[in-house]
Amino acid sequence: MSIAIAIDGPAGAGKSTLSRKVAEELSFIYVDTGALYRTIGLAAARKNINKEDTNGIVSILSEIKIELAFNDEGAQIVLLNGEDVSGLIRTPEASMYASAVSAVPEVRAFLLDLQRNIAKSENVIMDGRDIGTVVLPDAKVKIFLTASAETRAMRRYKENIEKGIDCRYEEVLRDVNERDYKDIHRDIAPLKPADDSITLDTSELDFEGSKQLILKTIKENI
Ligand code: DC
Repeated sequence: MSIAIAIDGPAGAGKSTLSRKVAEELSFIYVDTGALYRTIGLAAARKNINKEDTNGIVSILSEIKIELAFNDEGAQIVLLNGEDVSGLIRTPEASMYASAVSAVPEVRAFLLDLQRNIAKSENVIMDGRDIGTVVLPDAKVKIFLTASAETRAMRRYKENIEKGIDCRYEEVLRDVNERDYKDIHRDIAPLKPADDSITLDTSELDFEGSKQLILKTIKENI
């Protein structure tokens, strides 16, 4: 039997980077489910489908084949109809489209089996928004990784400044609060901790401290 660990939580809590590192330490496969939504977003963007056009988004699903592969370092590669789109899905446009397509029930249903099948055969750490609640309700350990809106906004603000992107902290904080509100209040797959999840708050922790806390929590509950 393979072991599944679900890590859910709001944007900016450090889920992807931390999950990847923790998976490396445990020799588990890391599955970034946001990349799947981004890939469908990219496909919709390429077809110039309007973000509000639910029927248009649904119509492209029959033309799409998404596969996940892993390179020698264990990094995830996403293939859209055989093309490696791992880099292309990281643009702000793909991100906006990912958010739009992720609110479409048919898209979520389309990705469900793909996500579940990976966890059937491999030990996985899967990160997303609804992994513990919907995708892998029987996951061995469920972590809800969070940090205060102020901390997440400050982390993003510093990242932007380091990359030379000019921004104001107050604006980043407003965006974080807006995105949280949307994620929590959407009708389909709203962001919420599974009843049997363990909430870890990394507001007061640095990266290494957060990683150690996650590893300790997994080891105590596996
Ligand atoms: O984590 P991310 O930024 O790569 O996610 C991209 C989008 O997909 C984001 O708008 C949230 C959505 N998403 C989702 O609805 N469910 C998941 N399991 C993962 C991501």
